[in-house]
Amino acid sequence: MLQHRSTQSGVAPISASVETMKILVTGGTGYIGSHTVLSLQEAGHDVVVLDNLVNSSEESLRRVSELTGKTAAFHKVDLVDEPAVEAVFDQHQIDAVIHFAGLKAVGESVQEPLAYYYNNIVGTLNLLRAMDKHNVRSIVFSSSATVYGEHNPIPYIEKMEIGANNPYGRTKEQIEDILSDLGNADDRWHIALLRYFNPVGAHPSGRIGEDPQGIPNNLVPFIAQVAVGRREKLMVFGGDYDTPDGTAQRDYIHVVDLADGHVAALNYIAGRPGVRRWNLGSGRGSSVLEVLRSFEKAVGQPIPYEITGRRAGDLPAFWADASSALADLGWSTTKNVDQMCEDHWRWQKNNPYGYNAAEPAAAGNAQASGA
Ligand code: NAD
Ligand code: UFG
Repeated sequence: MLQHRSTQSGVAPISASVETMKILVTGGTGYIGSHTVLSLQEAGHDVVVLDNLVNSSEESLRRVSELTGKTAAFHKVDLVDEPAVEAVFDQHQIDAVIHFAGLKAVGESVQEPLAYYYNNIVGTLNLLRAMDKHNVRSIVFSSSATVYGEHNPIPYIEKMEIGANNPYGRTKEQIEDILSDLGNADDRWHIALLRYFNPVGAHPSGRIGEDPQGIPNNLVPFIAQVAVGRREKLMVFGGDYDTPDGTAQRDYIHVVDLADGHVAALNYIAGRPGVRRWNLGSGRGSSVLEVLRSFEKAVGQPIPYEITGRRAGDLPAFWADASSALADLGWSTTKNVDQMCEDHWRWQKNNPYGYNAAEPAAAGNAQASGA
């Protein structure tokens, strides 16, 4: 069945008509995955979700369903369990896969490299083998700006040499290599490698959003928890960078724009075999203090902070050259940092403990947010 795509933002950057497909979303109960399930359902696709819930809750899917009026089939499956992965393909006639499932905390990956390589690489291999066996050869993969490493000039362009500087990033790079080798070996594969910059924000309904377990690693979830009273103050890591205000600059992207980027990539690769890579970012850098000011505007009051030393491994500034995604996919970001903070704050204010009704007893999970 052919139908036109619409977006929840009301902006329709992708003009192509698309066929309704049955999409398997691995990691679909997670932060970006749940927003993408919503975008896919709004675009008319049928969605099947596979997740082991190691860093998420099924409640996100229940809320997506409340927003879209559609239900995604859910399978609590670990990707490292190959027979269980195969069983999902036996049960559903899948047309394409969006692969989010993975561990994503950079610091934790340095402490526990084996866990990261095992989960992310073995999980992906099991998924690809099951896909091949079931003649499903379209995949959109969650890569990361972290693959650009430390030595590239900004803005980052897809054709640059990549080289991550931490185990998490290396799993992304290695999966990119596996997928590239696969696409080069067999022209039946349709592969999109999406390099995300810094996803923040939440669906404007305030019903779904990022729910980090333990102490958040990332800037906006940390600011949000200070604003809601769960933490005392933001520690700003580094005030002496060679940037306009001395704090580090990143390319923040609204999670709803990011989710729409997946639908656009899926549409693009549907008729085109081969391997393609796109940056998904805004093409613009914002400093830590600029983000803090935007968040304060959303909350309507000052947020306590202290400038402290630099965080090991952080770069002074990076952002995307996002022109390929615009040229090829007709996709670009539609929401600015103020809107990201307003939406993130609505989610945090309405759900102070995320998908939990109350503060979890022990906040010890180091996985938290990352990547
Ligand atoms: P998330 O942790 O919210 O979602 C990942 C999901 O994968 C979780 O629901 C988790 O339970 C699931 N999962 C992990 N290992 C699994 C396994 N072995 N089997 C089944 N399910 C498993 O993270 P997110 O922020 O939504 O990120 C989604 C993807 O995007 C990840 O691959 C991440 O590395 C990548 N990414 C994220 C960011 C970011 O800043 N959030 C940036 C770049 C790339
Ligand atoms: N920051 C603070 N205080 C905090 C948390 C973060 O000042 O409590 C600063 C960081 O030092 C950095 C900026 O805010 O300058 C953004 O930090 P995040 O942790 O939110 O995100 P990163 O830019 O460090 O990068 C993350 C991953 C990278 C990946 C990138 C894009 O760590 O590997 O997202 O996907 F490349």
